[in-house]
Amino acid sequence: MNIFSEAIVEWYKEYKRDLPWRESSDPYRIWISEIILQQTRVAQGYDYFLRFIKRFPDVKALADADEDEVMKYWQGLGYYSRARNLHAAAKSMNGVFPETYPEVLALKGVGEYTAAAICSFAYGMPYAVVDGNVYRVLSRYYGIEEPIDTGHGKKYFAAMAQELLPEGKEAADYNQAVMDFGAMQCVPKSPKCEDCPLIDGCAAFRDRRIQEFPVKSRALTVTERYLHYMYIEVGGEVAVFRRESNDIWKGLYEPFLIETPAACAPENLLNDEKVPSFIRSDKAVMTYLCGGVRHQLTHRTLICDFYKVELADKPDDFGRSVCWVKKEELSNYAFPRLVVMLFEKFGLW
Ligand code: ADE
Ligand code: SF4
Repeated sequence: MNIFSEAIVEWYKEYKRDLPWRESSDPYRIWISEIILQQTRVAQGYDYFLRFIKRFPDVKALADADEDEVMKYWQGLGYYSRARNLHAAAKSMNGVFPETYPEVLALKGVGEYTAAAICSFAYGMPYAVVDGNVYRVLSRYYGIEEPIDTGHGKKYFAAMAQELLPEGKEAADYNQAVMDFGAMQCVPKSPKCEDCPLIDGCAAFRDRRIQEFPVKSRALTVTERYLHYMYIEVGGEVAVFRRESNDIWKGLYEPFLIETPAACAPENLLNDEKVPSFIRSDKAVMTYLCGGVRHQLTHRTLICDFYKVELADKPDDFGRSVCWVKKEELSNYAFPRLVVMLFEKFGLW
């Protein structure tokens, strides 16, 4: 198992919710619970499930019931077509719940998510469930910018979830685990990152971008980022830094970067606490080369200011790992297009 799947299953062993439909592998009960939970929260669905199962304990009891009575047991849950579909599907079964994925999927009211849930939880079949919790947890942990509301995106997440599914009897636990994890830990607003066992590998947490995931194409807001690049030169060598974070340009090099949450004019930039003291010092010669350069990426607009800083000595500590590169060797490194453009415009390599 990979680290993610393993950590999720471990978490689940400790924190799983005791829910009545988890106590058996009866496909009938699991089916009823999943249909209820399609549009109803666990807290509200709980009692409905118990009452429903008590009155209609198996396929035959439900098939033989009067539709009015079935509706009565659904009253208050909303989305009443769910109850009508349940009843019709039960009647279509001839007393036996189907035992293959295609037959389960063919039941009235059962889509891919519900078919995967039933086949996994009841029969231990290797189908990954993909619901809103799965989109949220995977997109945050892996920093996936693929939108969840396009055909391409849905396929992408489905393939990925399938890939992450452990083999054998852990598969069903893994499926339940991601759902509980999304419902209890990695919740939509204010996820509980402080005590999250996945925090070390979580891309969204590392990049401070939790609220940006999962990405939706329709709500695609182009965010703006304000970059202040400083071309720091000491005796013919230039400080460059390899980007490690997953947001943009991972693995490419760039000059020293200060990023601000909003536009910041040159006269105010030195007040920013992220600017190291050696740049503020009297010995540094700082030149503002240009500003407001707009650069469009898929999900954001970069707005870039560019400075040149000449220092007498190499500073001890940048707070990040630096490469000193001779000016004439700069072109051996991979820089983003925006940076190349700036270097060329000012003849800096
Ligand atoms: N939501 C949908 N299916 C669920 C399940 N099996 N357990 C918990 N929450 C769910
Ligand atoms: Fe979710 Fe936060 Fe954990 Fe990342 S660190 S998986 S965002 S709860």
